[in-house]
Amino acid sequence: MNTPRFADQDALVVQDVVKRFNVASQPWWRQWFGHTTNGQEPANGEPKPLKARRGKELITAVDHVSFTVRRREIFGVLGPNGSGKSTLIRLLSTLLLPDEGTVHVFGLDVAKHEMQVKRLINRVSVEAAFFKKLSPKENLLYGARLYGVSGAEADRKAREILKRLGLRESSYTSPMEDMSRGMQQKVAIARAFLTQPILLLLDEPTTGLDPRSKLEVQSFVNELRDVHDATILITTHDMNEADALCDRIAILDDGKIVAMDTPEGLKQLINRNGHAPTLEDVFMELTGKELIEKDDLEDFEPEKVLT
Ligand SMILES: Nc1ncnc2c1ncn2[C@@H]1O[C@H](COP(=O)(O)OP(=O)(O)OP(=O)(O)O)[C@@H](O)[C@H]1O
Ligand SMILES: [Mg+2]
Repeated sequence: MNTPRFADQDALVVQDVVKRFNVASQPWWRQWFGHTTNGQEPANGEPKPLKARRGKELITAVDHVSFTVRRREIFGVLGPNGSGKSTLIRLLSTLLLPDEGTVHVFGLDVAKHEMQVKRLINRVSVEAAFFKKLSPKENLLYGARLYGVSGAEADRKAREILKRLGLRESSYTSPMEDMSRGMQQKVAIARAFLTQPILLLLDEPTTGLDPRSKLEVQSFVNELRDVHDATILITTHDMNEADALCDRIAILDDGKIVAMDTPEGLKQLINRNGHAPTLEDVFMELTGKELIEKDDLEDFEPEKVLT
């Protein structure tokens, strides 16, 4: 099924992907002057911005993004709130279709082979959907059935995973709606690890988890790669987690990739006058500084702030 232009070791090939959304309008004067693409005027010679739906404004959530993830790689996507991480993950998992560009999972075009791609991937997100009246056990066994895992096997594995994540035995059979957000998050993680996807897409899997559970999730991710040869794409706001876990990292800002390298390579991008920079320094430099310069520096008068 692989097309020749993909190397055998490529798990995920994202080529020039764009995703736009119609969102509630900005003030009338913005639309009046034709600010439709992220509020920016097109430069001379660029094609005219696309038209938004009536009463709406068009924003570009993912803006010409390209990257390749190799088999058995743990690839991190970092970026500020609203930079397009979750949209990107939805595009990779067939939940959304790109407006432009292509996504291939093990050589399969996600737009053309949706069902085949779905069998190869699994996605965990912070807003995981469950049958809230049912227990984790019922939810997980239902999920496992869909993937053809037997009930007894799924039950054994689910108990083992949830025990490692520190979920009380009694919670396993109580309704999901009575559980805290962190507890529900653990069930979502267990669901992803129950089946053995060869590409696992994790959208902030550890947000809201206590430190011990975070480490357990990280060790699950490593295990899945080391023992089961899985490829993992993960988004996180925890820079230490990204540094410890990821082989390579892409930093997204305003829908665009602003840097992509190994954690060490990213740290070499910035100069800290002899001090070893952290990944957080790199993130701040690449995503924060530009915003401050653009919006604030022109009007910034230090004396006024100090007095
Ligand atoms: N279904 C949607 N309809 C309209 N706009 C959307 C939709 N989903 C996302 N967006 C917009 O796309 C942009 C990117 O959102 P996205 O959720 O991908 O960001 P994110 O990087 O995951 O942010 P966070 O760190 O807060 O999770 C935002 O401006 C958001 O408002
Ligand atoms: Mg998100």
